[in-house]
Amino acid sequence: MDELMQAARAAREYAHCPYSGFAVGAALRTVDGRIYTGCNVENASYSLGCCAERTAIFKAVSDGQREFSAIAICGAPVGESPEAPCIPCGACLQVMAEFCGDDFPIILTDGAHRLSEFLPKRFIL
Ligand code: THU
Repeated sequence: MDELMQAARAAREYAHCPYSGFAVGAALRTVDGRIYTGCNVENASYSLGCCAERTAIFKAVSDGQREFSAIAICGAPVGESPEAPCIPCGACLQVMAEFCGDDFPIILTDGAHRLSEFLPKRFIL
């Protein structure tokens, strides 16, 4: 398995998802070859939860990283192996679009996709 997807699967183990029971892992590669991982972190006040992708992106950006070459994502109910592709939510796609171009590779369990496939148009201020 690709190293990035392997890192996403490992990060998924840390998901805090007692409310949805759906665990997600993400791994973001920087252009200089580092990997930042993230998992979903839910909260008793539901709307305060954060998706795995945004956790990974915010970790990287807050560490001074701005240029990314790919992200791998996997998700499934807790206790199940992530087989079906977990397509990133719209909020996470818009956050990716802040730092990444249309061709940014999004690697799911069914293979590689591009940001523009899931977000053909982005919000621009
Ligand atoms: N979730 C993610 O981590 N990433 C996504 O792109 C979509 C959904 C999380 C949020 C919540 O903790 C759980 O999956 C169920 O929606």
